[in-house]
Amino acid sequence: MGPIIRPATKGDQPALSNICLLTANAGTSSKDLHSHPALPGLIYSLPYVHLESTWGFVLEDDGEVVGYTLGAFDTRKFEESADADWWPLLKARYGPLLQNPDAALTAADRIYINTIMTIPRASDAQMAFAPAHLHIDILPSYQRQGWGRKLIGRAMANLKENGIKSVWLGMDPKNKEAAAFYGRLGFKKVDGAQEGIMGITVQQWEEYAV
Ligand SMILES: CC(C)(COP(=O)(O)OP(=O)(O)OC[C@H]1O[C@@H](n2cnc3c(N)ncnc32)[C@H](O)[C@@H]1OP(=O)(O)O)[C@@H](O)C(=O)NCCC(=O)NCCS
Repeated sequence: MGPIIRPATKGDQPALSNICLLTANAGTSSKDLHSHPALPGLIYSLPYVHLESTWGFVLEDDGEVVGYTLGAFDTRKFEESADADWWPLLKARYGPLLQNPDAALTAADRIYINTIMTIPRASDAQMAFAPAHLHIDILPSYQRQGWGRKLIGRAMANLKENGIKSVWLGMDPKNKEAAAFYGRLGFKKVDGAQEGIMGITVQQWEEYAV
């Protein structure tokens, strides 16, 4: 039958975590960079099947999840929900490891744990552009076959159905492949936001990319 796109569920968590790990190093694998390989997914993919104001779609081939797009309709609501129900548990679990020499943390583990400890927030410039944000990651063997465009299309249709007019995303500026992809789809740098923040309106998407 070939790959399908369907809504993400909590049952997808192992795949969401694995795909996040395998694409977390500016689009390439972070597997060898962590002694705690769950960290990327705990921050960037799993919250989207748990918290308020979230949505998600997965690309599934023959029963295996091979890609996803995940996001929040209202990033501030999502942040509040994470403050209440997500970060405290992770802070309690991972924070003490920073002071524990036996934890054998890698440099990448430390960066992710510090992210958990400082709680990331979207800037006012990002929020002024759009309340919504998204992530997208696809396993290497499914990249460059049009699935990224299809997943973003599904995400944009979902945002429109929910009355959202635009969306932004955060990209590692070192990820030149992703920058080319977003540029091709019509995403632009968000004015006043830090490097790597790109966005698009639903109207621009419909006029330019479809
Ligand atoms: C970035 C990513 C989501 C793109 O999805 P994809 O399925 O590979 O991209 P598609 O095949 O749908 O490409 C859509 C368009 O972008 C273009 N494009 C995609 N990657 C490109 C690249 N590296 N260079 C130039 N153009 C590119 C394609 O040529 C295509 O153009 P067309 O529709 O005119 O033919 C996917 O490659 C990926 O998951 N990469 C690793 C993780 C990652 O970097 N995620 C983004 C983090 S911010």
